[in-house]
Formats: sequence, structure tokens, C-alpha cells
Amino acid sequence: MFYDREDCIKASFFPDDYGTPSGVFIFKGFFTDEECKMVEDALKDYDLSDKYKDTLINWYANKVSPPLQPIHQLWEKASELLYPEYVMHPQANVLIITPEMNEGMFTHSDSPGKGECHRLSQVDVWKTCCELDYGLVGYFGDFEGGEIFYVNIDKDGNRTDGVGEENCLHIKPERGDLVIHGAFAPHAHGVKPVTSGRRYAFSNFVLKAEDNPGTFYNYKTPEYYDQIKDKDKLSLKEFVNIWMKPLKENPQFSRDRIEKYQASGLEGPELSDKFMGEFKEH
Ligand SMILES: [Fe+2]
Repeated sequence: MFYDREDCIKASFFPDDYGTPSGVFIFKGFFTDEECKMVEDALKDYDLSDKYKDTLINWYANKVSPPLQPIHQLWEKASELLYPEYVMHPQANVLIITPEMNEGMFTHSDSPGKGECHRLSQVDVWKTCCELDYGLVGYFGDFEGGEIFYVNIDKDGNRTDGVGEENCLHIKPERGDLVIHGAFAPHAHGVKPVTSGRRYAFSNFVLKAEDNPGTFYNYKTPEYYDQIKDKDKLSLKEFVNIWMKPLKENPQFSRDRIEKYQASGLEGPELSDKFMGEFKEH
């Protein structure tokens, strides 16, 4: 398992409510200087005013980058860390936070819980949010601030009922670091504002290989290799269209439904209360 590696720092470690070993796992300098530079160069001239169309929470709208050329290589490196027990779905974008945004990230859990799709309030085209075990984030860019804080974990890594934002576990991710944390409420987390530079977060969801709902090919399977075989011959756009296309649509987040949800103007729990109850049985 990835957390048995010698270079894994366990800032927190206890089983989640489903019995899976969970925690906050840090791999310092997981991505090399050269790999960090690839992401930073790809975003050098990116205009932050561009908006991403597939988000249901306004916070994300101006923070999601376009697909990045070098990301697939880095996604494979992170997938190798998880292999063979765990997988993550394709992901070609990073989240950008700058000091001008004057905010970090609101406190949230990566999953509302297994089988809790009716409580989702963000787009889940891969149908993995209610199957996943961990969030996995790689950090790029030169930045200050942007610490992650875990409101239900104390400084020693123990589960609590909340010790307050100041006294809870804080992690200061640095350029090249990789952090994996539990997906559920005990590992609810937020991000402090970035005080200088640009912070790029390559954010992914991790689930057991056998829990893949059939929306993507698991890393290193013959089907996966067949899917990506023409990568070097294709443009980024052509490659992303193949790699990032779910093998089947999640009916909860079809194009029509996303537009309906967006038009409602609701966000978070209000959005899920109004629209998503019907997916309780799925
Ligand atoms: Fe998160």
C-alpha cells in the first residue's frame, strides 16, 4: 500500500467509518523540480479570467485551469504510487489560487459518504464521489500560505469533534509535495489564503481498483494502454477528448442536468436538497 512506503509521512492515521485505513499522508518532493516546471511553464501565460463551464459551485469557476499538456505524465506517476490497490479517474486540470483572490478554499469533505450520491453538490461525471476513499493532491508553483487545515483532526493527528480552526492539524504543502487524505467528514479540510505567488493544486479522487464504477479504465490495464496508445501522435485537445471522456454517462450529471442545476443559482446543500434526492437509490 502507498502508506507503507518509507517516504510516507503519516500526519494522521486511523481507519475510516468503512474500515479502510485512512489519514493524512504526505510525500515530500514527490514531483521533481523538472516536473514542477512543466506545469508552471504550461500555465505561464494563462489568463485567470477564463471561466470553467462545468462547475456547480461558484468558488471553482475562475480557479480551474484548462487541460495541461504535462499532466498525464504526472497523473501516471501518482497512479503508480497507488498501484495496484487504488486508482484515480482521469484528470487534466489544476486548481489555481492566487493572493488576488483573497480567499483560500471553503471547508469540505471530498465525499459525502459511500452511497450518498443524493447529497452531492458538485459535478461528478465519473460517478466516483460516493465510492472513493481518499483525495490526492499534488502541489506546484512558488507560493506562500495555502496551508491545508483539518477541522476535525487535532495537531497529533487524532479524530476530534472539532478543536477550532486555529488548533487543528495544519499542513503546509510545498512545491512538488503530494498529499493524500481521507475522503470523509473526519478529514474535512479547508485551505488558507495564498499570500504570495501562485498555488497550483492537482486534485484527484482515489478509490479501490475494484470499486471503479465502469466510467474509466484502470491504470495499467490492457484497455488503458489501448486508450492512450496514440498520445504522442495527437494534439492535446484530441488526446484529452479520448482520455477524459467517461466510458458511460452519469445520469445525475448529464449535460442537460448540469445546465438545469446551474440555472437554479443554488449551491451546496441547497442544490442537493432541491435536485438530488431522486438519486438516493442509485
Ligand atoms: Fe478537498
